[in-house]
Amino acid sequence: MKTLLVGYKAQDLFEKGRHGRLRTASWVDGDVVCHVLDIYHRHALEKTHHVKAVCSAHLPDGEWDLIKFRTGPKLMSGELALDLLQEVYALSRKTGAKVEVDFVGKERDRNALVAKVRDDPERVRCFAAKWKASVPGMEPIELVSYPGCFCHRRADDGGLALAEVVSRELAGSPAGLRLLDMGCGCGLVGFLVAKSVGGVDLVMVDSHARAVEAATDNGAALGIPAEVILADAGTPERMDGTFDVFAGNPPYYSDYRIAEVFLETALRALKPGGVCYTVVKNEAGLKPLQERYFPSVETIRRRGYAVLRSVKG
Ligand SMILES: C[S@@+](CC[C@H](N)C(=O)[O-])C[C@H]1O[C@@H](n2cnc3c(N)ncnc32)[C@H](O)[C@@H]1O
Repeated sequence: MKTLLVGYKAQDLFEKGRHGRLRTASWVDGDVVCHVLDIYHRHALEKTHHVKAVCSAHLPDGEWDLIKFRTGPKLMSGELALDLLQEVYALSRKTGAKVEVDFVGKERDRNALVAKVRDDPERVRCFAAKWKASVPGMEPIELVSYPGCFCHRRADDGGLALAEVVSRELAGSPAGLRLLDMGCGCGLVGFLVAKSVGGVDLVMVDSHARAVEAATDNGAALGIPAEVILADAGTPERMDGTFDVFAGNPPYYSDYRIAEVFLETALRALKPGGVCYTVVKNEAGLKPLQERYFPSVETIRRRGYAVLRSVKG
């Protein structure tokens, strides 16, 4: 039976075996494919369970017999749940696959979610959002974002602080400056800097497939050439000591683990004399970490955030 799992992470595919030991659940066999939005989860699923995982912005086509969708208010936003569930039912109508919703939460919330999509197949809602952002001295640019990608529906203040500082510091730079926007999300930082400075050679990286989709669409709509790469910051390819500037607004939910991966990559990606900018609400956690990678760290305050600036020796 060909099964597509949607919304599952590596930790969801365990069961207790003999002596209470955790092992891959018996129903996870060679015919199971996991869809994930973030490449980190693809690596974790493949490594832990040796299962096939696909990382893409939308559900993969296939001759599925069963589609299992794991969701719940603590697992994803309501918008992302609705958006993915629409795709689940569309795929099920196309393939005849049975749908199972593995809802982590109250039964009544599960039924309400399913009814919104299953009982009204003609009504396909679009959850894309268009909004504007700018840095001082520049006309606002319009960006699109999708559920699941950061930031959705409005600019993040940390990202704006970073874009403002980097734009100001790079003003008047000669054309051809290579900028790496790490964890680009929908491209807020990279596109604001590229638009305000001009002539920037822009490379954007994100581990989330919907962020990459949004950044790609935004680059095309704005007419700003950018190479957008779906990759984990820790993946060494292409981070090859040729960049003049690194800008990163890392997520802080992992106790600075991802911020540290960003800094390792910054050091590898920058040429000698290249500049690394990161942004954080409270510098006390990040500054000592950045000092481990760079000889000195300067703090620039903006919008209630600290932008940390370091030069590669
Ligand atoms: C706080 S958001 C910043 C997005 C955007 N730069 C902004 O300022 O609006 C962090 C981004 O890093 C991405 N990310 C998280 N872990 C990552 C990793 N290991 N490699 C690459 N990107 C990662 C997330 O998907 C998210 O888009």
